[in-house]
Amino acid sequence: MKVTLSIIKADVGGYVGHSDVHPAMLSRAREALAEAKEKGIIIDYCQAKCGDDIALIMTHDKGPDSEEIHRFAWETFEAVTEIAKELGQYGAGQDLLTDAFSGNLRGMGPGFAEMEFEERKSEPVICFLADKTEPGSWNFPLYKMFADPFNTAGLVIDPSMHDGFRFEVHDLIEEKKIIFSCPEELYDMLVFIGAPSRYVIKHVFRKGSDEPVAVTSTQRLFLMAGRYVGKDDPVMAVRCQSGLPAVGEVLEPFAFPYTVAGWMRGSHHGPFMPVGTDWDTPTRFDGPPRVVALGFQLKDGKLVGPRDMFADPSYDNARRRALEIADYYRQHGPFEPHRLPLDEMEYTTMPAVVEKLKDRFVPLVGAERDH
Ligand code: F6R
Ligand code: MG
Ligand code: MG
Repeated sequence: MKVTLSIIKADVGGYVGHSDVHPAMLSRAREALAEAKEKGIIIDYCQAKCGDDIALIMTHDKGPDSEEIHRFAWETFEAVTEIAKELGQYGAGQDLLTDAFSGNLRGMGPGFAEMEFEERKSEPVICFLADKTEPGSWNFPLYKMFADPFNTAGLVIDPSMHDGFRFEVHDLIEEKKIIFSCPEELYDMLVFIGAPSRYVIKHVFRKGSDEPVAVTSTQRLFLMAGRYVGKDDPVMAVRCQSGLPAVGEVLEPFAFPYTVAGWMRGSHHGPFMPVGTDWDTPTRFDGPPRVVALGFQLKDGKLVGPRDMFADPSYDNARRRALEIADYYRQHGPFEPHRLPLDEMEYTTMPAVVEKLKDRFVPLVGAERDH
């Protein structure tokens, strides 16, 4: 049976500040999902969250980019925004960038990651949800899962993975895409995906098949809105086992709390901390950025789960290290590399300061020009 897995997410109000979502908003989202299931719009659902972002995890038979599914998500976020407004939640409706829904969610604010595939006899899937970071944050773990034999033993040991995988990479600035076949084109690919603010892995495919095995959300809100309206706080879904990375290989990259962009005001580098769902509430300096992993077994489109995959002591060291790295970065205060470089600072006061001081900048002359 062909099934579509859609994760559609938005921040439509924070509790308190940008740290969490009010329970009343979550129950409104759950109510809408239950009704959609009842009406047969979706097969099954799981209402989830990370930080101040609500995620609608849904299965259905309508394929990616379905107008019906996107409209349902949009109307749900509108309904949840009403509750956010009633309760005076912070930034109520912040990711709903337009007034009216028009066909699909592209360019409208909410993020989405969707893939359609033939459900296998047993279909383990992990849905990752992040807060206080950007879509390119998935480049590092996807590379590790599907291309690095030091992470994924199956790339060496499992004959059905030994040929490698194909990666679809999007250039978010020029709106172009390219497919890299790995391991042959690893080094070429790394030139691009090592710059995650611009180049983002959208899909991973098996060799010889166009059926996706992983998908990410690639929306960048400031590119849509032309100004800072909150970080994109991306989501990702990864299928596992039987010729794909094992569940433990899919989770393994997060044992290293690598550095991502986001954190306070979307303008700082910090460690990406894997947490159980009890701890998905960025607090210190609005962070550090964090990620939760919800595991499901799919059965006839039903989402059997979730299992809270990072709620496990084997991730304690990663968390401890993340906190040490957070201390280290914080001591840099307003200095790079804690603060993002100027061209990536979305809250930047730079243009205003340059304008204010423009008459005081004078050209260097004579011996002053010694560089
Ligand atoms: C980052 C984030 C927060 C806010 C910060 C300021 O993605 O959501 O760090 O940027 O709390 O928020 P405002 O500008 O709403 O006061
Ligand atoms: Mg927010
Ligand atoms: Mg958020």
